[in-house]
Amino acid sequence: MALDVAGSDDSPLNAHGGSDLSRSPFLLACRRRPVPHTPVWFMRQAGRSLPEYLRLREGVPMLESCARPDMIVEITLQPVRRYAVDAAIFFSDIMVPLKAIGVDLDIKPGVGPVIADPIRDAAALGALRPLEPDDVPYVTEAVRGLVGELGSTPLIGFAGGPFTLASYLIEGGPSKNHDHTKAMMYGEPELWAALMERLADLTIAFLKVQVAAGASAVQVFDSWVGAVSPQDYRESVLPHTSRIFAEIEPLGVPRIHFGVGTGELLGLMGEAGADVVGVDWRVPLDEAVRRVEPGKALQGNLDPAVLFAPWETVERRARDVLDRGRTAEGHVFNLGHGVLPSTNPDMLARLADLVHEASAEH
Ligand code: CP3
Repeated sequence: MALDVAGSDDSPLNAHGGSDLSRSPFLLACRRRPVPHTPVWFMRQAGRSLPEYLRLREGVPMLESCARPDMIVEITLQPVRRYAVDAAIFFSDIMVPLKAIGVDLDIKPGVGPVIADPIRDAAALGALRPLEPDDVPYVTEAVRGLVGELGSTPLIGFAGGPFTLASYLIEGGPSKNHDHTKAMMYGEPELWAALMERLADLTIAFLKVQVAAGASAVQVFDSWVGAVSPQDYRESVLPHTSRIFAEIEPLGVPRIHFGVGTGELLGLMGEAGADVVGVDWRVPLDEAVRRVEPGKALQGNLDPAVLFAPWETVERRARDVLDRGRTAEGHVFNLGHGVLPSTNPDMLARLADLVHEASAEH
């Protein structure tokens, strides 16, 4: 693949054209190009830890806020105003495209996604029709608005990975052991493959809507895929994640692939085809470099709970992440998973500044 700078002429479907995004440290690092400083953003930077978010969301259910362009734009911008982050992440949820095609679900505060009729047989697959751009006009409108407001800060679009979406749909809600999910994966491989195929289609369609409207990178959150072994990942998940990344490639935007507890899967996640592999806090980045095939950038991986320690500890740990990240062909600094709800926003502000200062020294 050509190492063109994102936003250049051979990214025809990226609505930015040749704007100053071509100098974005985040996009450059994703492309394994030299950067003036290590770029940083935080998974789940928009949301629960910000008082201005909690005020805005008062009385508005989660899924309703994800369907209102004015709220999406404002919530996406809130962390960008506070922190010197190098990218914004679109405010939405991995369940939004499922809701948009008519799946009866809710996101319950403190619980997570809850599905009214879990999908456990072939007849239930009928509930999963293809997603059309007209199903999510509020996404298109909000992305367009954001791209105008963000200027030289790139917007990351995202979608759920197929294992993670399948787990919510099959279990009917959050699950520790993924009992029903694995029962289907092991016991009914054809039904499993048919479900994964529809979910991969949904993810591809949702990402395409965001990129067509102007998102300049995408992340696939397959958060719970660390629950499977490498052998099962290769057989039952990889074909579907590979197809997602292959179908997004022609859009010309960097593709990030993230999961939690995926230390044993990092090599296979690299094989799935994304440009950037996200690493949680359990595997040091220099070790992750050895596990992921050459030709990939890495993203991560400060333990989000480190932010509850005194600043001196945060600084020491962040410098360690930066040092190990220097062994990668490209490094995007992030937490190893999302910002925890009780995180002090001032710590994140200091951390973003530290990442810039400490990495520019080199
Ligand atoms: O800042 C951002 O990263 C953008 C917004 C975003 C949200 N969800 C908003 C949200 C993103 C990228 C997600 C992805 C998401 N949603 C994932 C993958 C990322 C991860 O953390 O692993 C998953 C597994 C979900 C499903 C989901 N939605 C969960 C588990 C929860 C938390 C439930 C709870 O309250 O503990 C949600 C709800 C949700 N999604 C909130 C936000 C801001 C909190 C809801 C609220 O504020 O009322």
